[in-house]
Amino acid sequence: MSESDLLVDVRDLKMHFPIKAGVIFDKTVGYVYAVDGISMQIERGQTYGLVGESGCGKSTFGRALLQLEEPTGGEVYFDGVNLASLKGEKLRTQRRHMQMVFQDPMGSLDPRQTVEQLLLEGMKAHGLTKTQDARERLVGLLKAVGLPQNSLNKYPHEFSGGQRQRIGIARALAVDPQLIVADEPVSALDVSVQAQVINLMQDLQKEFGLTYLVIAHDLAVVRHISDRIGVMYLGALVEESSADELYDTPLHPYTRALMSAVPVPDPVVEDSRQQLLLAGDLPSPSNPPTGCRFHTRCPWKQNTKCDETRPELRAIQVEGASKDHRVACHWAEQIASGELQPHTVTAGAADPSATDHDHDADSLFGAQSVTEAE
Ligand SMILES: Nc1ncnc2c1ncn2[C@@H]1O[C@H](COP(=O)(O)OP(=O)(O)OP(=O)(O)O)[C@@H](O)[C@H]1O
Ligand code: SF4
Ligand SMILES: [Mg+2]
Repeated sequence: MSESDLLVDVRDLKMHFPIKAGVIFDKTVGYVYAVDGISMQIERGQTYGLVGESGCGKSTFGRALLQLEEPTGGEVYFDGVNLASLKGEKLRTQRRHMQMVFQDPMGSLDPRQTVEQLLLEGMKAHGLTKTQDARERLVGLLKAVGLPQNSLNKYPHEFSGGQRQRIGIARALAVDPQLIVADEPVSALDVSVQAQVINLMQDLQKEFGLTYLVIAHDLAVVRHISDRIGVMYLGALVEESSADELYDTPLHPYTRALMSAVPVPDPVVEDSRQQLLLAGDLPSPSNPPTGCRFHTRCPWKQNTKCDETRPELRAIQVEGASKDHRVACHWAEQIASGELQPHTVTAGAADPSATDHDHDADSLFGAQSVTEAE
C-alpha cells in the first residue's frame, strides 16, 4: 500500500478509564482497560468492519480514533498527520474530515431542531455556508440520502427510524468528510430497514469517495459492506484480514466461534456443520485474564503459554491465509492444521471476574454452557 492510499493509521492505541473510589479524596483504585493496544490501518475509499461482543471496547476505540476523548496512549495518523499534534482550532478544522454516525438516531439528533437546522449546524461551524449556496447543498443532501424534499422543515420525531438514520448520515455528509465512523449504524433498526441503510451507505461511499469504519456486534452487518474486518476481544484485536478471507478461513478460536454462530441458509450444511458455543460472559475489562485474554473461554486453550503470555497479532503461514491476515493466538498453526482439537470449557469456572454486561439478548454469543456441538 502506498502512503497516499492510507487514510487512517492507528498505532498501539490505548484508552484506560480510571476507577475512582473514596468520598472525600477521589482515589484511583484501578483502570478499565477498554482499549488496550490496537494497531490498524484503513485505506482511502475502503470500509473496515470492527466486530466484537458488547463491552469489548468498540465504541471507545471509535471515539479515541476521532480524538473525541484523549487516548491514554498510542497515536492516530489521519492522512499522514498525527492527530495528537493538533490542538484547538487545527483539531476542530480537522474534525470536519472525520464524522461519526451513531446507533440511536433519535438520541443523537436534537429533537428541538428541524432537519434544516440539524444539517446547517455543522456546515456553519466549519464555515461552509459562506462559500456556497447552502439551500442548494441541503436539497442535494436530502436527495443523496433518499429523503423527501419537504423534510427540511420537519422535526426528527416526524420520521421513521430508518429515515432518522438517513438524517444522521446526511448530517455527517453535510461537512463533506473523508472518513465516517459509523457506530452500530443499523442496530436500532428493523431488519427490513437495515439492508436499505447499508445499501445507502455503500452508494454514498461510491458517490463521495468515503472511507468507513463500521462498528457492529453483528457479523452479518459488516460482512457485505467491509473490505477488511477486525475482530475485537476485551480491548484488543484478535484477528484481522480481508472480509472474504475471514469468512473462508477464520483462524482465531474466538472468530471460529462467532462464525459458527451465524446460521447457514443451506439446510444440509446447517445440519452438518460444527458449532462452537462460547462459555460464560466477557470477563471484566478492569480485571482482564492474564496471558491470552480469551483463555478463560477458549475451547483450544493449552496448558502452556495461553494463560502466561499475551499473544502478538501476527501473520502465519497456513493454507488459505494471505500475508495480511493476522491472528493473535499462540497455537494458530496447530489449530488450522487440525493437530489441536477443541475441548469442553465450563462456563464461569475459569473466570470469577466475569461481568454482567447486558448483551445476552442481542449478542451473537449468548450461549452459556459451552462446548463443541455437532
Ligand atoms: N467513560 C467511561 N468511563 C469508564 N468506563 C467506560 C467509559 N466508556 C466505556 N467504558 C467501559 O469500557 C468498556 C468498553 O465499552 P464500549 O462502550 O467501548 O464497548 P462496546 O464494545 O462499544 O459495547 P457495545 O457493543 O455494548 O456498544 C466497558 O466495560 C465500558 O463499561
Ligand atoms: S492463545 Fe491459547 S487461549 Fe488464546 S486463543 Fe490461542 S489457544 Fe486459545
Ligand atoms: Mg458500543
